[in-house]
Amino acid sequence: MIGDKKVLFSGMQATGNLTLGNYLGALKNWVSLTDEYECFYCVVDEHSITVRQDPATLRKRARALLILYIAAGIDPEKACLYYQSHVSAHAELAWILDCYTYMGEMNRMTQFKDKSAKHADNINVGLFAYPVLMAADILLYQADVVPVGIDQLQHLEITRDIAERFNNIYGQTFTIPEAYIGKVGAKIMSLQDPAKKMSKSDENPNGSIYLMDDRDTIIRKFRRAVTDSEACIAYRDEQPGIKNLLDIYSACAGKTPEEAVQEFSGRGYGELKAAVGEIVADTLDPLQKRCAELSADKAYIDSIIKNNAEKAEWYANKTLRKVQKKIGFPERIR
Ligand code: TYM
Repeated sequence: MIGDKKVLFSGMQATGNLTLGNYLGALKNWVSLTDEYECFYCVVDEHSITVRQDPATLRKRARALLILYIAAGIDPEKACLYYQSHVSAHAELAWILDCYTYMGEMNRMTQFKDKSAKHADNINVGLFAYPVLMAADILLYQADVVPVGIDQLQHLEITRDIAERFNNIYGQTFTIPEAYIGKVGAKIMSLQDPAKKMSKSDENPNGSIYLMDDRDTIIRKFRRAVTDSEACIAYRDEQPGIKNLLDIYSACAGKTPEEAVQEFSGRGYGELKAAVGEIVADTLDPLQKRCAELSADKAYIDSIIKNNAEKAEWYANKTLRKVQKKIGFPERIR
């Protein structure tokens, strides 16, 4: 707790072009939770270097992501928006937690398996230990809730396991976090292969809607979306392409998938695709405009980066010092 509020932590990687999946699965929920919780929203640039990055591009994308958080509607006066690399406690706690995590646990992580298959020439230790850094992110702030898409649930489970293990050895140290999964949009699938999640690293750009795609591109991508030959609009696993379109529509329209099915009952796939394209373009248009405006205000963004990093550092160091003391590191002499 901070004051009378529970704590919320979440983060996104500044890698690749963010997709509609990132927005509907995570960012959109973040905005609605800022009043209820004391929120820390991190740009996890340290996670990004598990895959080789061009330095100038990483720096640019990290800033653009922080701006996107604000453009999406997060008030930086209420929530703490900052870069992971500006708070050294993340890396320090990650090292400590590495020593309380087993190789066998990490070996089971599906994202590691997927990513090492994709980057066979660069299966580095960081990629393997990535979920421990994520655990450190969350545990440093004593987070009660962590809003994420379904693909991150396994990492949250391991975070809980590590925290419980540490608490069992040293006594109550970390809050055990709960995942927060949105009612709709928690797993947006590729438009070209609805068995796969929509991903910024997809080789086929037609499978993903990027947050900076223009209206025509969005409408065209939805027009080409893979569906089926059932010719019936229903929300069911046997029709994954249609189910995905209904998920996207209902997440953007603030409706339930059942309401969306009713709205489109008796209509053709072409009409559904056109309607989803329009509502997604309408959703992203103000976001894109706000990003452009905010990017022009360098002094404002810089002040947020500075002030929020200091705030995050204060809370993070409080937990880190407690952990260091518990495990027996010598006390600092001032
Ligand atoms: P990342 O950067 O891959 O994704 C950011 C958020 O977007 C969600 N997401 C999706 N949701 C629905 N449908 C999709 N197709 C989709 N694709 C992505 C993700 O679930 C995530 O919530 N390891 C994390 C970043 C991270 C983090 C943390 C998250 C680092 N430390 C601490 C929470 C707490 C990641 O790579 O997310």
